[in-house]
Amino acid sequence: MPPYTGPVTASSLVVAPSLLAADFSRLGEQARAVEGSADWLHVDVMDNHFVPNLTIGLPVVQDLKQATTLPLDVHLMIEAPDRWAVGYAEAGAYNVSFHAEAAQDPAGLAKDLRSAGSKAGLAIDRDTPVEPYLELLPHFDTLLIMTIKAGFGGQAFMPELLDKVRTARRHLRSGHLELRIEVDGGINEETVEAAAEAGADAFVAGTAVYGAADPAAAVRAIRRTVETAAPRPPDGETP
Ligand code: DX5
Ligand code: ZN
Repeated sequence: MPPYTGPVTASSLVVAPSLLAADFSRLGEQARAVEGSADWLHVDVMDNHFVPNLTIGLPVVQDLKQATTLPLDVHLMIEAPDRWAVGYAEAGAYNVSFHAEAAQDPAGLAKDLRSAGSKAGLAIDRDTPVEPYLELLPHFDTLLIMTIKAGFGGQAFMPELLDKVRTARRHLRSGHLELRIEVDGGINEETVEAAAEAGADAFVAGTAVYGAADPAAAVRAIRRTVETAAPRPPDGETP
């Protein structure tokens, strides 16, 4: 077996600031503030049904696409994604993640998203186990594991949810699957290290980026922390 070098290399690392913590009266400007430091821009779409909060929808995502060069990482916290998700791919989103809890036919929807030109992401909320979805992963490009309960920014990171990241990472390694594992919720310079060690390679951060005086510097600080996080072998393997 080749030596284990850790789940994250500098080139494979994605930092995705979440606009949820930005100033909604100047979204374009806030998006551009992290061009050059961020890899993706995370856009939280909430419908006040799947989660008890309401944010933005398709028209705003269409305009954001024109306002920034950053790839848009759309996180749909909505009911009936089977009906609505493809519109976001058609609007030019780079990745569209929908919640496993809300989708009727996750594999079919992933196929439709890919046909419409985006990557397909499966999102797993706080109270949902990951095991039932492992066999669906070949249909997806990203697996978004919530590290809080979906719905609001600014909540405290829940380290116990990283067990799902470890389970998914082990599954990907054993099946030689290429998939990003993205963590979302309470990620900051302190918590990101544990998430990286668990096997995540994409990191969403809202408050830690847009709550900072210098959002670009906050992105760079998170990236540095992940890059220097000590690689830790998965359970049962020696380095
Ligand atoms: C919450 C959203 C997150 C949110 C994270 O449901 O999915 O993307 O913006 O915000 P922080 O980083 O503040 O926890
Ligand atoms: Zn999100």
